[in-house]
Order: sequence, then structure tokens, then C-alpha cells
Amino acid sequence: MSQKIKIGVIGTGGIANAAHLPGYAAIPDECEIYALCDIDPVALEKTRAKYSVQHVFEDYQKMLEMDELDAVSICTPNYAHFLPTVDALKAGKNVLCEKPIAMNATEAAEMVAVSRRVGKILQIGYCHRFANTNQTLKRYIEAGELGEIYYARAQAMRVRGIPGWGVFIDKEKQGGGPLIDIGVHILDLTLWLMGHPKPVSASGVTYQKFGKRDDVVGFMGQWDHTKFTVEDFASALIRFENGATIVLESSFVANIQKDVFSSMILGTHGGAETDPFRIIQEKHGGVGHFEPQIPNRNNNTYSAEIKDFVACIKEGREPLVTGEHGLMVAQIMDAIYKSSEVGHEVQI
Ligand SMILES: NC(=O)c1ccc[n+]([C@@H]2O[C@H](COP(=O)([O-])OP(=O)(O)OC[C@H]3O[C@@H](n4cnc5c(N)ncnc54)[C@H](O)[C@@H]3O)[C@@H](O)[C@H]2O)c1
Repeated sequence: MSQKIKIGVIGTGGIANAAHLPGYAAIPDECEIYALCDIDPVALEKTRAKYSVQHVFEDYQKMLEMDELDAVSICTPNYAHFLPTVDALKAGKNVLCEKPIAMNATEAAEMVAVSRRVGKILQIGYCHRFANTNQTLKRYIEAGELGEIYYARAQAMRVRGIPGWGVFIDKEKQGGGPLIDIGVHILDLTLWLMGHPKPVSASGVTYQKFGKRDDVVGFMGQWDHTKFTVEDFASALIRFENGATIVLESSFVANIQKDVFSSMILGTHGGAETDPFRIIQEKHGGVGHFEPQIPNRNNNTYSAEIKDFVACIKEGREPLVTGEHGLMVAQIMDAIYKSSEVGHEVQI
């Protein structure tokens, strides 16, 4: 495809303005921000003015009627990922859907099935895979430097990070708390680094110890504690068919020293941590760690993700983060929440 890809963005809130729109605007020779949609006319107008977009809609269905539109970014809250994605795919558009793929695995499976049926791209917004450090680590792993990976500890922990905006504290609209919001990011990264072994079961716990209280300080704005319906901490042990396991921990609030977003990976020839980026190996009778020096170490993962989405459309190739990968995370999420409810391990 030689002409510019025409892009529509559904949802013009936080992530659209922080990631998608700047990402598309940064590659004007490749694509054009052609249409915007938001149910909130104020948010819509603000974004339209900033990017001088020709076509604006409050109803995404109307936007999808534009034949010339090639691709759509879904930047709506979690409860509004499923329908816009499925409708966009059915209208023949390629889709970059924000994470998590959907509210649950049932929705996710349908999204994947539709994308395969219509032959259009469904990419999920797990942007951390595009970090140059993580790309480097993946190359080390693929070259066998870590040997057999049998365990990982994946942490997405905030000290006081309940978002004070949006619908992040509303279980009905979000599907859950930190686990489905930020835990999914570090889980996806870890699954990818481990080569996507098949998950078989999960044992999870969720706690709600802070969110409903009025005496807890917010570092990401002050949320309305009377409306808090999600967990504020979750932990899980996930088992895989090949015998590997992941321990996942995710918090909006925890009495820890500092925020952590990292995965520790254990292999038979080496270990690794994603942040701070380290590879650990035994050599010549000693165990040492090193950090590979790489160009553009702190690259913008959002821009890289958007650029790759557009390139995938132009080149007709599979995205790095497929719908199936999003579905696997959703299946694990469902199992962890279910396990927490019933009080024992559940099958996936
Ligand atoms: N990749 C990341 O690191 C990252 C970071 C932040 C948010 N996100 C994801 O992005 C999504 C949106 O989060 P946000 O922080 O931008 O939320 P937000 O509340 O700031 O923005 C969402 C926007 O969607 C609009 N909207 C809601 N329903 C709609 C509909 N049916 N049609 C059109 N517009 C609709 C809202 O009016 C709002 O303007 C969430 O799923 C979140 O998980 C991803």
C-alpha cells in the first residue's frame, strides 16, 4: 500500500492524546489522522482543534461508514473496547485496540474470531514490548542466553496510584482494579519474553484494603472513595503446560517504598530483570550481571507501537501483539478473578 493510511480514533481522552494521536502525527508521510469520535463533545472539540482533523463524530458507527478509512484506534474505557472493535473490523478497518483487549475472555475470543474471519489486523496496546531494552532482552532469550525459562515474578506495583480520573475504580466499566489495568501490561510482557507457554491454571487473591477509605492519600489525583468497587491489590500464581510458573503482583495502593514495574525471569543458563534492565549469568566460576548498552535506550514505546501498527497495515504483516496474545491475558485475568472469588485454584 503506497498511499497514506487514513486513521480514525475512537475515544479522545487520556491515552488518545498521550499516545495514539502524537504517534500518528509523528509519521505524516505514512498516515493521516482523518477522523475522531467521542461521546463527549468537549473532549472531541479540544482534540479536533489540536490536530485540525476534518471529520468528527459523536457516534462511532457513523465514523465507520466512511469507506476511505483504513484503520481505527480504540481508545475508550475497557467496557467500550468490544463493540467498537468488532464493528470496526466488520466495516473492514484494521484495529489497534487499547489494553486490556476487553472486559473478559468471552468478548476477547469474539474479537479475535472476527478479525481472523474478515482478515483485518487486530493489534492490542501492550506497548512495553516495544521498549528497546525489552526488545534486546527478547533477542538474548531467543539466542538461548537464559536457557530454559521456568519461573518469573511479574510486578506492577504502585505505592499510591489509584487514578483520580476516568472509570478506573468502577468494576462495571473497567472489569477490575490494578490487575486488569496495569497487571495486564507486565503479564503480557512476561508471557512474550517466555515465548507464550500455554496457561493451564491460576490461583489468585484480590484485596480491597485502601480504596474505600477516606484517609488514604492519592498520588494520581484523589479518587471518590464512595465509588470504589475494584480491588486495590492482587496476586496470583499462574501455571503453564510446560511446567513454568509466573507469580504476578499488582497494586494501586501498597505500603512499599517505591513503584515497581518489572519482571524477574529465571532460566537455567541465566536470569534477567526488565527494570532496572539486567542480565545475570554464571561465567568462569562467578555470577555477574550486566546491562547491554543499546542505542535509544529510553525510546518512546507508544510511538514505536503506533509506527509498527501503520507499518503492519502497509506491509500486510502480523502485528507484534496479536489479538490471540490479548486473549491469553484475558483468559488468565478471568481465572485469577474467579479463583479469588471461589478461594481455590481454577483451570484455564
Ligand atoms: N497503553 C497504556 O499504557 C495505557 C495507558 C492509559 C490508558 N490505557 C487504556 O486506554 C483506555 C482509555 O483510557 P483513558 O485513560 O484514555 O480514559 P479516558 O477516560 O481519559 O478517555 C476515554 C474517552 O473515551 C470516550 N468514550 C467512552 N465511551 C465512548 C464511546 N462509546 N464512543 C466514543 N468515545 C467514548 C470518553 O468520553 C473519554 O473521552 C483504557 O482501556 C485504558 O486501559 C492504556
